[in-house]
Amino acid sequence: MSNLDLFDSANSGNSPEESPMLAMRRLIDLLNRWEHAYYVLDEPEVPDSEYDKNYQLLQQLESKHPELIQSNSPTQRVGGKPAEGFEQVRHRVPMLSLGNAFDDSDVIAFDRRVKELADLPPEAIIDYSVDPKFDGLAISIHYNNGNFDKAITRGDGTVGEDVSANVKTIRSLPLRLKGSDIPAQLEIRGEIFMTKKDFMQMNERQAELGLKVFANPRNAAAGTIRQLDPKIAAGRPLRFYCYGAALEREQLRELKSQSAMMKWLADMGLPVSELSQTAHGADGLLSFYRNVGERRSSLPFEIDGVVYKVDSFDLQDQLGYVAKAPRFAVAHKYPPDEVLSRLLNIEVQVGRTGSITPVAKLEPVKVGGVVVSSATLHNLDEIQRKDLRVGDQVLVRRAGDVIPEVIPFSGNVRSAASTAFVMPTHCPICNSLVRKEEGEAAFRCTGGLVCKAQLTQSIIHFAHRRAIDIEGLGNKLVEVLVDKEWVKTPADLFRLEYEALVQLERMGEKSARNLLDSINKAKQTTFGRFLFGLGIRHVGEATARDLATHFKNVDRLMGASIDALLEVNDVGPVVAESIRQFFDEPGNQQVVHELIALGLSWPAEETQVTDESHPFYGKTFVLTGTLSQYSRDDAAALIATRGGKVTGSVSKKTDYLLAGEAAGSKLDKAAALGVTVLDEGTFQGML
Ligand code: IVH
Repeated sequence: MSNLDLFDSANSGNSPEESPMLAMRRLIDLLNRWEHAYYVLDEPEVPDSEYDKNYQLLQQLESKHPELIQSNSPTQRVGGKPAEGFEQVRHRVPMLSLGNAFDDSDVIAFDRRVKELADLPPEAIIDYSVDPKFDGLAISIHYNNGNFDKAITRGDGTVGEDVSANVKTIRSLPLRLKGSDIPAQLEIRGEIFMTKKDFMQMNERQAELGLKVFANPRNAAAGTIRQLDPKIAAGRPLRFYCYGAALEREQLRELKSQSAMMKWLADMGLPVSELSQTAHGADGLLSFYRNVGERRSSLPFEIDGVVYKVDSFDLQDQLGYVAKAPRFAVAHKYPPDEVLSRLLNIEVQVGRTGSITPVAKLEPVKVGGVVVSSATLHNLDEIQRKDLRVGDQVLVRRAGDVIPEVIPFSGNVRSAASTAFVMPTHCPICNSLVRKEEGEAAFRCTGGLVCKAQLTQSIIHFAHRRAIDIEGLGNKLVEVLVDKEWVKTPADLFRLEYEALVQLERMGEKSARNLLDSINKAKQTTFGRFLFGLGIRHVGEATARDLATHFKNVDRLMGASIDALLEVNDVGPVVAESIRQFFDEPGNQQVVHELIALGLSWPAEETQVTDESHPFYGKTFVLTGTLSQYSRDDAAALIATRGGKVTGSVSKKTDYLLAGEAAGSKLDKAAALGVTVLDEGTFQGML
């Protein structure tokens, strides 16, 4: 049976004719096969979400028909079989698994059960020790009188493999523990993983050398640990976090709690995640889950959930174990961020500057809570590098939890009917020639504003909130206006009439009036917004602002020589050339003049303050969160006129982070780098 057949049969698992026994057997075969591929071969056949879904189906069937449970069911054992080649070692204390919670009610039920089993009243508040659930591979590491002794993989939970030579190469793992209170024998437990960045760099290197490219950081880490030659592991960026220890009774009594143990382990020099902390009651667990969830995409490593452990060892002892998992701990999973789909087609989109972007049309799938049916493939090089063909099974991931990304799926079996993507020679919208400029990855439509796609995108850009800001002028409406040829340049927006607008579909009298009002309101703008709105290639918001402050008036800018343009902050030869070309075009000159004649105006640019003693002078700012007194643009302008600079992301070079309400990951990063954080009040004071 091919992978495709397997996948299809997995999805058609709830046919009413199938007996529970047959359904269970089928699921067991499927899951065992996937587990073997995943755990033993390090070559996953399906994404985790697919596995989890079928595992749950099996669990449901088994709880309905406990008399039918098979001994070879994956629910009856912990992990996969150890591979040959390493010495097999029996674990002193078995390495267990964790029960899963998938939603809030599962967590509330877990907390309630803990109290019931411990004979505590429902209103009692339990203390928990909480960590991220690292997405790597579990390892048990033995220390002998404080010296690294051996490292054993989890294996099937009872017997694992001695991978000491490879684990010893992990630089963040101490080979000798520090402190004076080191036990003679210590067995710690934790996770080996790779950071997202290290993983990507390593994969690039592997690809360059024509070596194996891994599907994800976890498989890269697992694949590395299973190498028989430790030199290979030494050359790969493995990391380790400690999340527990298999302690003796005496030690448990002394330390009293999981959180005290974590501190003790960290004090001995073992790496413990900064995200590990304590939480109180179910509310505390859920807020930890949300908190970490919000930061998940910006964490340097992958996690697939968080883990909650009853903090008190006494209470843990009282709760005990069920089958292969403790009753005192649970893993609360996040929704999958990588889901299997199929590439139905590759279409092309024409951008504002004519760039032709291939876009994947996908079988709709839910990724991280959002339905995704299309995703950019960036350019032809990218499609070739990923070797994608229409008809392929692909994985869809939401990169940074926002932009969907298509990744090749290692288990794909290519059908004979699959087709390779061919870049069109002519623009699908205006039929102009498509050209690839030298040194660029992008192909471009040469139609300019003759091309309705380019025109539509230019108008959308012009009306954007950060440009001229026409409220209520949505993308769909722009498409209609361009299609009807009512709008052929941005100036035409200011010539739209009420009588025409009300006749449009879905345009009531009120919305027509509102639209005209906001078009009218948008005439009062700033020079910087106006320049940005023109959509000159390579002129982003910041450059537009710099040009505005430098030239102060539009005629002076339009007449500026390349040399004069090069005097502007951050304007190099490419940008200067692009600005010159734009204003040399008679059509563009006319649009600028028409816009001004139609009433677009802006306050005179403030004369640049060169007060070098101002605290903002020469400083680099990053803005985050929502300010109450200023828009981000206003704040950026205030900083700029005082000789400061605003950049997009926090780095060592950042002097100040201006943080408003609901500031997110930038605030964490600033704290980590020791960047000074200003709240709005302090900022105002400094102004
Ligand atoms: S505690 C009694 N804590 O999750 C079980 N496990 O199903 C002890 N994992 O493969 C596990 N992060 O390697 C624990 N913070 C964490 C974890 C964690 C990841 C993995 C573990 C095992 C699986 C447990």
